[in-house]
Amino acid sequence: MRHRIDVIHGVNLDQLGRRDPGQYGASTLPELEVKVKGFAKELGFETTFWQTNHEGNYCESLHIASERADGLILNPGAWTHYSWAIRDALEVAEIPAVEVHLSAVAEREDWRQVSVIRDLCVGSVQGKGVEGYREAFELLKAALEP
Ligand code: DQA
Repeated sequence: MRHRIDVIHGVNLDQLGRRDPGQYGASTLPELEVKVKGFAKELGFETTFWQTNHEGNYCESLHIASERADGLILNPGAWTHYSWAIRDALEVAEIPAVEVHLSAVAEREDWRQVSVIRDLCVGSVQGKGVEGYREAFELLKAALEP
């Protein structure tokens, strides 16, 4: 059976294409989705793509994630750095997750240095743009098919 992966984007990621292309690349979110779905297909995953600007909706999608997915790729945007609510919701999900950031957060402002979800994830990829999502699928493959 093919593994199902939910790719869940958070706040302001619907604005890709308008945000700093030096940090986030020039692709819009729909363009990124096409590429990410291509990576999933190559690696034999089924994938569902979600985005919300509402923290509670992000939490609720994590609450029910295990009903529809075997693994998660999460880019919560700025919530990564402070949302204890999303961290708690991820604990409820109980399926493997990989954190992805398009930009190299470790090389940016001090407030981006903290990730409140990182230690709950089986991997973290940053600074590789859209290619980082391919690496995230590979990390999930290793976690789901050890
Ligand atoms: C981001 C990095 C975050 O610090 C930022 O707030 C974002 C996007 C990234 O993909 O590089 O919105 O998660």
